[in-house]
Amino acid sequence: MPVDRPPKRRFVILISGQGSNMREIVQHCRTVGAPADFVRVISNQPDAPGLAWALAQGIPTGVISHRDFGSREAFDGALAQAIAESEPDYVLLAGFMRILTSGFVARFEQRLVNIHPSLLPAFPGLHTHAQALNLGVAWHGCTVHFVTDQLDHGPIISQAALPVREGETVESLAARVLRLEHQLYPRVAQWLAEGRVSMTVQGRVHVNGVQDRHFWSAV
Ligand code: GRF
Repeated sequence: MPVDRPPKRRFVILISGQGSNMREIVQHCRTVGAPADFVRVISNQPDAPGLAWALAQGIPTGVISHRDFGSREAFDGALAQAIAESEPDYVLLAGFMRILTSGFVARFEQRLVNIHPSLLPAFPGLHTHAQALNLGVAWHGCTVHFVTDQLDHGPIISQAALPVREGETVESLAARVLRLEHQLYPRVAQWLAEGRVSMTVQGRVHVNGVQDRHFWSAV
């Protein structure tokens, strides 16, 4: 008699480039047997290298190029339609380099997750590693959070930190943070697949059955 397994949660992943976070998420979830179905990878960049990798993994892909649309709203509408067709439980932004309209966010809110290469609320926006070095922070890192219509300010699911070293350059720090992202996002994706992540009435994230939600590493 087959054991009744919980239904797998459906994930759409949005990328714009290499998709290294996407790769780490898919590989981790498949390795640990997380109840996750990666039903589609969509990019706004037709030549995103991550698309070929996803296809090779048997994951359907799609391209919605922002260059084909006359407005941000029109692009977001087409993207939302493509995503909705896959009926995702969660939409993971993984190196997705577009700012989404409030209409798009509202359609997928509480199901839209992003990784940002800083310890939010520090350093929202771009060039986070340069911002960190310019201010001489001791600690830097990355944040996985739910997306709201306030850029890089949604409820935090988990953070990973690292000590900034003497003589660090933007390149060396970016490489270290990316390695940290590759530890952080896959475990959050696993928690999402396992149904552990919920919101409290105070608007904070609760992760059921996980002791150390956040971590630091000297990567
Ligand atoms: C990286 O700079 C990462 O910090 C940010 O998006 C960029 C590309 O990530 N999250 P990926 O390799 O496409 O996942």
